Amino acid sequence: MIEFRNVSKQYSPDATALRDVSFTVAKGELVFLAGPSGAGKSTLLKMIAAVERPSAGQVIVNGQDIARIKPAAVPFLRRNLGLIFQQQRLLTDRSILANVMLPLLVTGASRGQAEQRARAALDKVGLLERAHAQPLALSGGEQQRVSIARAIVNRPQVILADEPTANLDRASANQVLDALKAFHSVGVTCLISSHDEQMLDAAARVIHLKQGQLEVTA
Ligand SMILES: Nc1ncnc2c1ncn2[C@@H]1O[C@H](COP(=O)(O)OP(=O)(O)O)[C@@H](O)[C@H]1O
Ligand SMILES: [Mg+2]
Repeated sequence: MIEFRNVSKQYSPDATALRDVSFTVAKGELVFLAGPSGAGKSTLLKMIAAVERPSAGQVIVNGQDIARIKPAAVPFLRRNLGLIFQQQRLLTDRSILANVMLPLLVTGASRGQAEQRARAALDKVGLLERAHAQPLALSGGEQQRVSIARAIVNRPQVILADEPTANLDRASANQVLDALKAFHSVGVTCLISSHDEQMLDAAARVIHLKQGQLEVTA
């Protein structure tokens, strides 16, 4: 489903984010991406979504080489990816239901259909009763679960979550991880990054990054 072959990323001659990284993630796998701040976690996840392109090597997602993908094909690639990235904030001027409906309306769903599916997505993350709340009325962990609902409402095959538990207390972080694991348990491939080793699930596969290099290859 996802394969990195000897991938390097240099933002500039003196900013190397990834060095010769190779690994594969199979369909339906749950993988944690661990490593301290600056290790290259965000860069790696951005490459899967074709936000960044490799300087060398190949990134294959669903059989497509990200380095060669045409700009016109990028929206189709992303339609299969549920992205929970730090820079994608919720819109604070509308309800969480409206936030979760948005990706469906953008891809042409009717309002009725969008609302039905957005409600189902909010139900899956345990927030259906809060559907009409504004994002800022929710806790950080609840807001992050809304982000998960928004990311999965288009039924992606893969979820990429970049530090989804950052800035959350332990209990909220666990609720966020449980929400992600629930999608893994129904067959969605999940890649979750964290700089906090305590967040890592002992049962799951972990890819460790350090200064842009893979520490252990699983
Ligand atoms: N847009 C960018 N331009 C230049 N350097 C960058 C850029 N994004 C990240 N970097 C550098 O690449 C390295 C890895 O960053 P990043 O992927 O954000 O790591 P992490 O998410 O693990 O904290 C860091 O040294 C960072 O400063
Ligand atoms: Mg990061």
